[in-house]
Amino acid sequence: MSLSDDENRYDGDDGHCMFCKRTIHQPIIKPGMRADDYMLMLNNISADKGCMAASQKYTKYFSWVLLSWNLVQKIVDVLDKLVESEDPVIEVFAGAGWLSYFINSLLRRSGSGITVVPSDTAAKGEYGSWFQHDHSYAPIDILHVDALEHVQQAKPKVLMMSYPNRNSNIACEVVKRFVDLGGHKLIYYGEMKEGMCANDNFFDYLNLFEATEIIPYEELDNWFGFHSSCMLFDFNKPRFNASIVIDPRSLKNDTLNNWLNMCCDELKLKNAFNHNFENFEELTSYISKDRYQTPSYEIKELINGISIALDLDVKSITHSI
Ligand SMILES: C[S@@+](CC[C@H](N)C(=O)[O-])C[C@H]1O[C@@H](n2cnc3c(N)ncnc32)[C@H](O)[C@@H]1O
Repeated sequence: MSLSDDENRYDGDDGHCMFCKRTIHQPIIKPGMRADDYMLMLNNISADKGCMAASQKYTKYFSWVLLSWNLVQKIVDVLDKLVESEDPVIEVFAGAGWLSYFINSLLRRSGSGITVVPSDTAAKGEYGSWFQHDHSYAPIDILHVDALEHVQQAKPKVLMMSYPNRNSNIACEVVKRFVDLGGHKLIYYGEMKEGMCANDNFFDYLNLFEATEIIPYEELDNWFGFHSSCMLFDFNKPRFNASIVIDPRSLKNDTLNNWLNMCCDELKLKNAFNHNFENFEELTSYISKDRYQTPSYEIKELINGISIALDLDVKSITHSI
């Protein structure tokens, strides 16, 4: 079975990439193929990572993650350290399921009892046009549930996601729900802030916690023009002292407004910004203006300064937001 050419924008008439003119490897899928053969097939397409037609074929039909056994092995090593065999591990936004499929395959080979359960809504709804071909899908069961619902049901301690949709808040909502439900480690593969994934809210939230590279950035395979990272975020390890974040949009909230107004009056916010704010409007405009540079840090520092000075219970404030 091979991909039909009609939807391949970068394929030239002669079956070569329109840009680099190289021959495009057609994926060959045979019944009963094993994980190694599938990996070989995907590696054949990705052989030339600078080729736009190959990049399009791979990301449109199979996976945004540029898969290799090296990548999968590194993730498996992390899972082995983090997870007890009976603990649920889920992959949301799993697309065609290849990452979970290869991870599970290596886990089984190593005799591990851990299994990653992938989910995605791609097979229905507005994403129905993605990964619609039978041969796009990895030979693994993918739950067709919304990511939030999957997290809610499974309550995993370890969550995986790759290439969450750009300009969408869903990844942020999912990760916050995951942490609320007691989850503490996120294995993330994709571009970072201002790249092709999720939105600022998501990365501002992740920025509050310690992160380590699962594979050093320079060693990770990338398509031409892509800048993927593979990271482990640890929600048990906040990078800042205070333990709450304020989304500037929540400043519209009356309770919070009143509370911040009060703090502004009392403190002039010296601790937070080393700057005197004469009134609440000045403070909010400062935060909004600055949020594109170092939003989380500034806002955290603000809250930290206020809460230390007033000896407030930070957690109770979190709930009131
Ligand atoms: C850019 S694709 C990445 C897919 C896969 N991780 C990969 O690397 O190939 C984003 C995926 O998220 C899925 N998605 C978007 N919103 C979702 C939601 N609310 N619940 C579940 N899946 C969702 C889409 O169906 C799509 O398959």
